[in-house]
Amino acid sequence: MKLYIDSADLKQIAYLQEYYPISGVTTNPSIIVKENRPYLDLLKDIREVIGEDKELFVQVVGEKAEEMVEEAKFISRQLSGAVVVKVPVTEEGIKAIKRLTADNIPTLATTIYTPFQALIAAMAGAKYVAPYVNRIDNLTGSGVKVVSEIAALFAAYQLPTQILAASFKNVQQVHDVCLSGAESVTVGTDLIKKFIDFPATTQDVEAFKKEWQDMYGVENVLL
Ligand code: E4P
Repeated sequence: MKLYIDSADLKQIAYLQEYYPISGVTTNPSIIVKENRPYLDLLKDIREVIGEDKELFVQVVGEKAEEMVEEAKFISRQLSGAVVVKVPVTEEGIKAIKRLTADNIPTLATTIYTPFQALIAAMAGAKYVAPYVNRIDNLTGSGVKVVSEIAALFAAYQLPTQILAASFKNVQQVHDVCLSGAESVTVGTDLIKKFIDFPATTQDVEAFKKEWQDMYGVENVLL
């Protein structure tokens, strides 16, 4: 299981990176524009915060495969460390994934709504596929079912492509895809914090602390 931060907010990335077991950061055009600053500087700053080993995902915006390939090469040259290029699963995107795979540039096939889109992207050589769980749910489908069918297809055809499930609005969706074959998830900053936020845990910790302090005093911890 790998957990990625779906955000370009430097402050939040730094915070989550310190507290949580994070494997990297995913971005998309909407996430980048929210930060309202030059995108290359922003991406370089994210790299600085997460370090060279963690994966940084950057999405291409060109429509034609040739443009996507050029953008992917440019981004890979500009950014140090582990970079994965996100490519939408259009017909042009599949062509770009084939070309980038041949050039050893790792890709994530994004905007996935159906198991077959994922299968074709995996056959083209994508390292990851990103099914959009909540957006599928909003279309009266089941994001979790799509994830489990992708997992079944990849297992049936022994494809090494990993499922990096994306687009979540609640913890239950994340929990369910983790049990349905997703190797990784990318989650917004507020939702990551909700993973371990549970009132009963807070109450238990407070009760333990009070009992301890009543006996040993406020200053004394286990040292
Ligand atoms: C992943 O990188 C996707 O772009 C992202 O998770 C989409 O999430 P949204 O549906 O909350 O915009």
